[in-house]
Amino acid sequence: MPRRRQATELPFVGALDRKEGQLGRQLTLVLREAIRSGDLKPGESLPSTRHLASSLGISRGLVTDAFEQLIAEGFLEAQPGSGTKVSRGLSEFPALNSVEQTKRAKAEQKLPPRAEAFAKVARQFAPLPPVPFAVSVPVGPTAPDDTWRRLGNRTRGLRSAAPSGYDDPQGVLALRRAIADYVRKSRSVHCTPQQVIITAGTQQGLYLACQVLLEPSDRVWVEEPAYRGITGILEGTGAIERMVRVPVDESGVDVEFGVRAAQDARAAFVTPSHQYPLGMPLSMVRRTALVAWARSSDAWIVEDDYDSELRYVGHPFPSLQGLAPDRVIYLGTFSKILFPSLRLGYAIVPEHLVPAFCGARSLMDRHPPSADQHSLAAFISEGHLDRHIRRVRLVYADRRMQLISIIERYISGDLAWLQPGDQGMHLVLWLAYTIDDEAVTAKAMDAGVSVRAVSPMYSEGKGKPGLILGLGGYTNEQMEKAVKKLAVIITA
Ligand SMILES: Cc1ncc(COP(=O)(O)O)c(C=O)c1O
Repeated sequence: MPRRRQATELPFVGALDRKEGQLGRQLTLVLREAIRSGDLKPGESLPSTRHLASSLGISRGLVTDAFEQLIAEGFLEAQPGSGTKVSRGLSEFPALNSVEQTKRAKAEQKLPPRAEAFAKVARQFAPLPPVPFAVSVPVGPTAPDDTWRRLGNRTRGLRSAAPSGYDDPQGVLALRRAIADYVRKSRSVHCTPQQVIITAGTQQGLYLACQVLLEPSDRVWVEEPAYRGITGILEGTGAIERMVRVPVDESGVDVEFGVRAAQDARAAFVTPSHQYPLGMPLSMVRRTALVAWARSSDAWIVEDDYDSELRYVGHPFPSLQGLAPDRVIYLGTFSKILFPSLRLGYAIVPEHLVPAFCGARSLMDRHPPSADQHSLAAFISEGHLDRHIRRVRLVYADRRMQLISIIERYISGDLAWLQPGDQGMHLVLWLAYTIDDEAVTAKAMDAGVSVRAVSPMYSEGKGKPGLILGLGGYTNEQMEKAVKKLAVIITA
């Protein structure tokens, strides 16, 4: 039986207007409307007349009159011993709410363009079930080991890790120091801890970069295809017309094309270590050309370096930031190499931009949660991150080779083929052009296989069908089972 609601749990009755007078009539109206709109549900108990009267500061007689009126109209029912309830019979008359519901449903269907763009992103970013081939699902050997938990407990116990006031919007200094040291050694990034801003992952870094660097009329280069995390922001903030899609070939983003199409662009959003989603690194010639363009056009390069730790053959290219620290906003994340629910990443920006990024950050969500920053600082500075990277790199390299051989065994090359590449934690499986990748994705989901479609990563009408397959920590048996299911779906 639903418990009796307290008077304080009926916020709508607080809207009685004393100056208007006729408080009993007003109460009748708001209760009737609350029942119609579903704020009060059939069978729900109302507060006693005495409590409601005292909380509203009106006489008990007025409340009793209002209840009696609504009982007479059939909205309420009184039962000896159990007080007054919303009539249970009302649930048999869905028409009661239908006007309101239809109005609401219509309003929801007809979203303004920006709201519609964000709603589309919500559909595309809905987390996938943690089964093959959802990306960034570290399990077993690719998940951080007990050290992570131990450090968490240790740092939470320290006073500095659990401050009670607001913290620095730029992030905890110990973590900024650890990151500056880590990216200097591993990615040839030139920076001081003063230039590091801790973010809630790369996604927030992209948002901050758009807010801080772009004026409403600025044009922007975006790769074709590109990560929906950046095209989604530009679409949702009304910059869709000013997004210049620059094609990607085997050497990465085609800088000459970009210069011809929009030399005056204010920024280029790129994934030079491992183009997302296709996987090729940006060649040295193109890197030099990109930096030359940025310098001559007074433009920014936003370098999304999301998974450069996972290179299995040879040496990675050093970061673009190292070539032009004054022109590049470097974005890194712990989502890939550790785990995405950590929600910690970093933006490394030229020093004069730091206050602007911190201001934008303060307005967005003040600052990153402090305790995990201290744990991560200890994890990096005590050498655990380096050990973790060495361990998972071997696992991912092995899983990658296994997955490639399973796909070649079960899926016909006429229907699907792999994009060449040698790094990262996902593969792109191209599909024959007659196959609808979004339909395959939906059917795969029904069959218990998590994949994402490639075509939405292209601009409207240019999409090529393909699937993103994440490696995670899945076993060979899990991958084989999932590939067999995919083969059936693709063949059908
Ligand atoms: C290209 C690209 N950048 C960045 C990220 C990571 O985003 P975040 O750090 O917000 O989890 C991803 C995750 O899938 C990605 O694919």
